[in-house]
Amino acid sequence: MFLEITELKKSFKNADTKTEVLKGISFSVEKGEICILLGPSGSGKSTLLNIIGGIDSADSGSVRIAGEKTADMNEKALTRYRRKHLGYVFQMYNLIPNLTVKENIEVGSYLGSNPLDINELLHTLGLYEHRSKLPNQLSGGQQQRTAIGRAIIKNPDILLCDEPTGALDYQTSKEILKLIEQVNHRYGNTIIMVTHNDAIRNMADRIIKLRDGQIRTNSRNEAKIPAAELEW
Ligand SMILES: Nc1ncnc2c1ncn2[C@@H]1O[C@H](COP(=O)(O)OP(=O)(O)O)[C@@H](O)[C@H]1O
Ligand SMILES: [Mg+2]
Repeated sequence: MFLEITELKKSFKNADTKTEVLKGISFSVEKGEICILLGPSGSGKSTLLNIIGGIDSADSGSVRIAGEKTADMNEKALTRYRRKHLGYVFQMYNLIPNLTVKENIEVGSYLGSNPLDINELLHTLGLYEHRSKLPNQLSGGQQQRTAIGRAIIKNPDILLCDEPTGALDYQTSKEILKLIEQVNHRYGNTIIMVTHNDAIRNMADRIIKLRDGQIRTNSRNEAKIPAAELEW
């Protein structure tokens, strides 16, 4: 298995209360799969993604990517792991306001050893004509495309997406989902995407449902449909 999550537990402590947010999560994802994490708000989806992404740590359990266990890594190795393996796309695009589209995407390439060709990527993203614009001259969808470009330019093994269409309207959401699917086909990145839109499950290879920090269901989708045909 390419990504193996084993018995992950995580609590957050406030003054004198302790909230158990992940209560022993285990699942695996194969290389090149699209895995959708579904679940109501507060079920622990972002916490799980942050731990996979190495930007938060678990209390116990393990995350293994290609056999490497993140908990065994020191700070330096973890930084290298994030750079080598992971791209992150958030609901809010977090672009740098005074950099152009092209420059925002290139920010991501300094972190990788084998980046994709910027001009080819701009075409894939449908941003080539917009490459010299600033983020405030773009629509929400174009901003999210730029953010996806920034995450994908280093050609990471895994692309983590936390509600990437959460701030977008129906048509734009579909465009973004089509783009994520296209990136998966073209570059073979494993995709882990959090959503609370139930319809998006249909484009996935694997569907994992969380509730209250536990996995309710984990299934392979045998009837995968293209993002372009999703309806909600
Ligand atoms: N840094 C934190 N400190 C305290 N509680 C947190 C922190 N991050 C998340 N939580 C709590 O953990 C629970 C799960 O949050 P989260 O993983 O963001 O859920 P989701 O992404 O599924 O909406 C929520 O109850 C949230 O309030
Ligand atoms: Mg969340």
